[in-house]
Amino acid sequence: VARRGRLSSTDARIRASRFSRAEAPGDHDELRVLAREQSALRRVATLIAREASPSEVFALVAREVAGCLDLPMISVVRYESDGTATQVGAWGRQNPYPVGLTWAMTGTGVASLVADTGQPARVEDYAEVPGDIAATLAREAGIRSGVGVPIAVGGRLWGVMMAMAADATALPGDTEGRLASFTELVATAIANTQARDDLHRLVAEQSALRRVATLVAGGAPPKEVFDLVCRETGSLIGASTVNLAHFTPDGVNVTMAGWSTGGIHLAAGTRLPLDELSINALVQRTSAPGRVDTYEGMPGEIAERLRLNGVRSEVGAPVIVAGHVWGALIAGTDDVQPLPPVTERRVASFAELTGTAISNAADRAELVESRARIVAAGDEARRRLARDLHDGAQQRLVSVILNLRLAAQRREGDPPAAADLVDAALEQAQAGLAELRDLAAGVHPSILTDRGLRAAVGSLADRCHVPVAVTAPESRYPPTVEAAAYFIAAEALTNIDKHAEASRAELRVREVRNSLVIDVNDDGRGGAAFTGTGLIGIKDRVEALGGGLVMDSRPGRGTHLHATLPLPAVS
Ligand SMILES: Nc1ncnc2c1ncn2[C@@H]1O[C@H](COP(=O)(O)OP(=O)(O)O)[C@@H](O)[C@H]1O
Ligand SMILES: [Mg+2]
Repeated sequence: VARRGRLSSTDARIRASRFSRAEAPGDHDELRVLAREQSALRRVATLIAREASPSEVFALVAREVAGCLDLPMISVVRYESDGTATQVGAWGRQNPYPVGLTWAMTGTGVASLVADTGQPARVEDYAEVPGDIAATLAREAGIRSGVGVPIAVGGRLWGVMMAMAADATALPGDTEGRLASFTELVATAIANTQARDDLHRLVAEQSALRRVATLVAGGAPPKEVFDLVCRETGSLIGASTVNLAHFTPDGVNVTMAGWSTGGIHLAAGTRLPLDELSINALVQRTSAPGRVDTYEGMPGEIAERLRLNGVRSEVGAPVIVAGHVWGALIAGTDDVQPLPPVTERRVASFAELTGTAISNAADRAELVESRARIVAAGDEARRRLARDLHDGAQQRLVSVILNLRLAAQRREGDPPAAADLVDAALEQAQAGLAELRDLAAGVHPSILTDRGLRAAVGSLADRCHVPVAVTAPESRYPPTVEAAAYFIAAEALTNIDKHAEASRAELRVREVRNSLVIDVNDDGRGGAAFTGTGLIGIKDRVEALGGGLVMDSRPGRGTHLHATLPLPAVS
């Protein structure tokens, strides 16, 4: 019924075969044909260079090919991804296929043969072709035979250029070869348009991302960023709905923001179970972008809601915050055709910005909280100081004054009583002085100022009830660093005494590159947490100086504190 032709794909081979034909026309005719073909190709090329629309190019190609090759009917046909073919360019009064006609390639017509083999194909007699619409239309239009040559774009079969005629002799044996020189031009036109579209899409993508990034960098509230992300993602990728989901530790999917063309997206705050098969759960499981091509027949509440809203397929990407999947940005479509393969990458870019916005906001909130704690701790320390001064030294001084006044009154009349009162005043004055010293040492230990960190932490270790191995450098550091290191050691050793039930401990201070590093380890019961004011207090202090504090305290494994304090650069 049909015979597959061979394609000679380069002009040289096409011409060589044409010139070598036994019944070749005279040199003159041959040159005229060649010149005609060249100028037709030039006209098509000019149109392509002017960035004409694909449909204009297809129409001109069909006409030029028909004119050049003396063929009555030419069709340019595009293969669709769903197994159908669409007529995109046509020439010939009797051409039975209008531009825009789409048919299922179920038979063995020219388009189907080329689609199956990727090679040129020929149908000698359409009367013998059963099946598809195209063949039926051809027969009805009185077409006997047809020839098709594949159009390949970027190495992939894009479509077919077909020539048809009422009798087989109108399509000589070299028709395949001569069509081929035009299909290459058509392929160039298509590739050009695709490149242009890609560029436009890239520019659109970049500016959408820039708008979101600008908002993130400006420290906008997360909610504002979430709304913009959903809107920009949706319009960029042509989704019908976009939503940002947050996954809670107990497996709930919380909608944080949404956008849709038909107002069908889930409202912010909607809580649904994180169903196993949804894109949400898939993204959470894999921490990677992914897709669900159909929710048809899928169990669970999420799938049910999506079906109700007409969402057929979805693409999602993880929003990662501090190394964990915080949630997912998900785009859906109500189209039968799932979103194209580039969608994953695009959704992922927006998801990444969303993650940055969330962690920025969390960092800011944490900073505000720790500042508030430092201020509160300072206030509290001053209140305690005032109270201690009032209850202690101040009371002693009041007593001293009282006793001295009484002594002055009795100096003449009752000298022994006066002497007793002076003795009592002296005792009280001494006690007051001792209390003032202690108080001052608590605010800032004088040993630290006078003798440095090594001596100061050494004396802390001596007072600890658990044996502590101390190593510390002899060097002096800026007062704020020495004070911070001292209070870390003091809090850690007090905790070891109070909570650890340890048999021994280690306190190590070292200079590592441009930092002072303090390690305090014990072999006690572990299980320490940032629950009291002590550990949080030193963490705040360390962080306020631009350093960090980490703790490892698994039950039964002892407690290990590791603090890093940056040292100011020596100028
Ligand atoms: N070295 C340690 N070993 C075991 N538990 C500890 C240790 N240090 C602290 N903890 C636990 O962590 C909690 C928080 O410590 P901290 O913030 O210093 O508060 P506080 O000492 O005032 O209770 C303590 O209450 C204690 O239960
Ligand atoms: Mg404590």
